[in-house]
Amino acid sequence: MTENSSSKINETVSWVGRWTFVLAAAGSAVGLGNIWGFPYKAGTEGGGAFVLIYLLCILAVGLPIMMAEIMIGRRARKSPVNAMKIAAIDSGQSGKWQAVGWGGLISGILILSFYSVIAGICLNYIFISAFPNPEISSLTQFNEVTSSPLKLMFWHSIFIFLNILIISAGVISGIERMVRLLMPMLFILMMVMVINAMINGDFAKGLNFLFAPDFSQVDATTFLRAMGQAFFSLSLGMGSIMCYGAYMPQEENIFKTSLTVAGLDTVIAILAGLAIFPIIFAYGLEPGEGPGLVFISLLSVFVDMPLGNILGPAFFALLSIAALSSAISLLEPSVAYFEEEKIASRFSSALILGLSAWFIGIGSVLSFNDWSELEFIGGLNFLDSIDYLANQFLMPIGGMMVAIFAGWFFKPDLALEEFSGIQFYIFQVWRFFIKFVSPLLVATVFIYQLAS
Ligand code: PFF
Repeated sequence: MTENSSSKINETVSWVGRWTFVLAAAGSAVGLGNIWGFPYKAGTEGGGAFVLIYLLCILAVGLPIMMAEIMIGRRARKSPVNAMKIAAIDSGQSGKWQAVGWGGLISGILILSFYSVIAGICLNYIFISAFPNPEISSLTQFNEVTSSPLKLMFWHSIFIFLNILIISAGVISGIERMVRLLMPMLFILMMVMVINAMINGDFAKGLNFLFAPDFSQVDATTFLRAMGQAFFSLSLGMGSIMCYGAYMPQEENIFKTSLTVAGLDTVIAILAGLAIFPIIFAYGLEPGEGPGLVFISLLSVFVDMPLGNILGPAFFALLSIAALSSAISLLEPSVAYFEEEKIASRFSSALILGLSAWFIGIGSVLSFNDWSELEFIGGLNFLDSIDYLANQFLMPIGGMMVAIFAGWFFKPDLALEEFSGIQFYIFQVWRFFIKFVSPLLVATVFIYQLAS
């Protein structure tokens, strides 16, 4: 990589289908965060009040940063490390801005390591919900799964293997082909689950719960959680979207596609709530169950529900598909970097980096059982420590740095070039948000969290 500028390299791959960027970015965005994380956070943080604050975070912080990431990625057509470097050098700044890309690669592997363990549990639950053991409660069932390092390791390994397989097949034959297959499946399964909730659930109560705001439950931590959730859910601050943006054809409109991706992500999160809460209420369970909402409460519902042994597996297949299309976007940025720098072939890079995530994931597997008492960061177990590190530090700092760079250091002319086809006033609104609103909001939340 030369230090001089104008390295607008166009030989990089480009998505073939017109909708592929939207599908791939939505695939990255829609994941465990939407179907598992969003409903349980809404459940514990005051329902509609949380949803409202979450929407604000998506609009004021998520959308502008997503546009910035795509802009930087597409301009350079390189993996995030080199994209940041090229964007900085072309704007007359120091190439050291590539550190932002590095942070992204590292958090991608870290997140993948525990994401895969939870996704592995989802895979396992496809079978558990198809053939539930009537002798034991769903809580005992969950404990049985998580207390066995071998079982968790098995499914974690299968999930990482699937990732390596898809990524090593390449951007077009691997990622593009998979998201074109998986995303429609995901949408159909989600519709089936929502219709099921309308038939078998207390839909009015579910709707009321998700949309009627209960502000008495809102405090500063609600903002923190909503902001963290928005970052995680939109896959921001860690290079995934920047990397997919590098494959986006030049003629596509960054504003419209970002709006579509953020919209799809939000719609799916809300649909997940509408698929889950009505049946939770109809079966007399508590909505604020926390992380066990899906694996414990929902499983017990599927066991009792008519056609539960078909609907249960359908739901967990939905979760697994969503997790897989997100996980590949966690691995792709670092594989793209290794390939670009000729460190290894795509296949070897996918193998080396996938296995690294697999290895770190062993710590997360053990934190459910043998290491459950071991404390790493601030009294948290291994999985929660990595989650905390990535979610509360690496991602927000990454996102804030992207915003600061795009707003203050990236040449506006270059930004305008990437935003061609977008009305000028939208560009100006974006500039205002990315310069002031997004970084300030992230910084406020971040400082508050450090202080508390
Ligand atoms: N957005 C994914 C989810 O909501 O589950 C998780 C994720 C994927 C986070 C990719 C970050 C990322 F880069």
